[in-house]
Order: sequence, then structure tokens, then C-alpha cells
Amino acid sequence: SGGGLPALGKETIAQQIKGLEEIGSGLHGSVYRALWHGEFIAVKKFQSWDDESWRHELDIYKTQMISHRNILRVIAAASRDNGTATERWLVTEFHPHGSLYDYLGTHSLKPLQCFKLLNSLICAIEHLHRTIHTRKEIDGCMHTISKIAIVHRDVKSRNILVSNGGECILADFGLSLRLDQWQNQLKNKAERFNKKIGTTRYMPPEVLGDTLDTSSFENYKKADMYSIALVIWEILSRTLLRGMVNEDLCPYNQPYTRELGNTPDPSIGQMTEVVVCRRQRPIIPHEIVRDPLFKNVAKLSMECWDPKPTNRHSALRMLKSLTELEQMYKN
Ligand code: ADE
Repeated sequence: SGGGLPALGKETIAQQIKGLEEIGSGLHGSVYRALWHGEFIAVKKFQSWDDESWRHELDIYKTQMISHRNILRVIAAASRDNGTATERWLVTEFHPHGSLYDYLGTHSLKPLQCFKLLNSLICAIEHLHRTIHTRKEIDGCMHTISKIAIVHRDVKSRNILVSNGGECILADFGLSLRLDQWQNQLKNKAERFNKKIGTTRYMPPEVLGDTLDTSSFENYKKADMYSIALVIWEILSRTLLRGMVNEDLCPYNQPYTRELGNTPDPSIGQMTEVVVCRRQRPIIPHEIVRDPLFKNVAKLSMECWDPKPTNRHSALRMLKSLTELEQMYKN
């Protein structure tokens, strides 16, 4: 016996995690930076009454083949009895830059940094949306390994992290819906999932106006693409093109700040008025519109916030077009 030393291997992951410091709080709980075996990690603590959210998000992260360099990596799930209730934790890798929202508020971007953020973001959403079947040999037998399609349903700059290498890391899968979950939902005719979910500021017109046709999973992907378009606009609004200096940039603002005024949490009614009734969209900065190359990036994002979901690009189309534009910029 170890005379006071913790029995190795008997410590729970929660006990191995030290020095928790709160770095943010949201609807489903708070996020902490902490140390685990000498390395920084992030801990998302869920409200004790909200086991469902913890299980749901964990379930999404456990999806076969979900791992991708631009999707937040989960290290462990942990539970801790705090005396009155069981706390549920989600332990993930830690990204010191924090969210894209924080990053854009404090950084301006050079064109290549802009492309890096854009391409990595689209890469993440393309991987999430995609269904993949691959054949793989395991122990001499061929197996089919599949990645099932997932929609995020809460894409916004606060749910995206920025890696040390300047890439976007997609996070916060609490509202995500997997193709198999959606199919079960249809079969059971159970409207388990509320229709108007997500963040009102980033809600596409068909969600705001209740015209989203939930009988096709593709429509959910197009709804994600609308929110992606707003994030692309946010990234473009912080990009310094040739000859520009920081003073030429507008201070960072979330989408629709100009249209709504400084309303921190716009209501569904306010958003419906702006996005559905008046069909307003964020304004692309003049410098971007005038640039022979970046005007094409702006055009791609504008095509993704089209009121008609079928007019929006798929993530794969976006990825191909953006990669071409980045190549043209480099040449
Ligand atoms: N904020 C929320 N999750 C985070 C993470 N994994 N790393 C850094 N900041 C975060």
C-alpha cells in the first residue's frame, strides 16, 4: 500500500485533472482550462440536470471516423460526484487562441491567414456532412468502415476554435443531428428535436420562417451552409488586403450588428424581420468587393446565404472553389 499516495490506476480522470480555471460559460454549462498530466486540456462541465446534452454531444463525438484535424478532439468523458449531484464532464484538447469570435475581435488577417481559416472551416463542415464508406483490412479480413453524415445546426464564430497553426476547429456538437438519429426520428414520428433551435442571429430564413422541409436531410446541410456564409463574412470583414492598414478595417462585429443595432441576443421576431421580411444580409466591405480575387470569395458566401436553400453551395463545392481561389492568390 502506498501510504497516502493515490493508488495508481484507481484515480478517475476527473481526479487527475487539476487547476481548473473558468474560461467561458454558455447555455449548457461552463468551460474550463485545466491541467491533465502536465498538459493543458479543456473541460466542459454540463449542468447536473442536463445529462441528456452531455450524452448527446458525447454520442456525436463517438461517431465512427468523425476524427478530423479541424474537428475538436475529445480526450475523455468523465463524471464526478460533487456531493449533491453527478457532474458530467467532456474533456477535450485545449486551443489557447480560444474561439474564432475572440480571435477576430483581437486580430486582423493577412490574405493567406484568411484563406487558412476559410479552408479549414469548410474542410471541417465538409467532413461532418459527408457519408464515407471505405474498405479496410483488419486482421486479414476486409471490413467496411463508414462515416455517417452529421449536421451541426449551431454554426457560429463562438462555436469554432482557432488552433495554434491558425486553422478553424469546429466544436460544440450539442445540437448536432446524425443521419441515423434523423431517420429514427422520422420513423417514430417523434418531434424530439425542437425546430427552431440554434442561435437566432445565425438562423437561416427557413428556420426563422418555419419553412424548413425536415423530410430531407440535405435541407439541414443547406441550413448549416447559411450559417457558414455568415462566418465567412465575419472572417472577410477582418481581412487586410494589399495596401490596407489596420485603421482601414471596421472594428469586429457579429453579423447583422448594423441591421439590428447593438442587440446582444436578438429575438426570433427581430431576426425574421431583418432576414426573412426585409431580406437583408451583411454588407461586404468595399475593399473586398473591389478586389479581383476576394470578390469571388465574397460571391461564394453570398451564394450560401441565398433565401432559397437549393441555390446554396454544398460544402464540397465550396471547398473546391475556395482551394482554387487560394491557389490563384498564391500564384
Ligand atoms: N473554449 C471552449 N472550448 C475550448 C477549447 N477546447 N480550447 C480553448 N478554448 C475553448
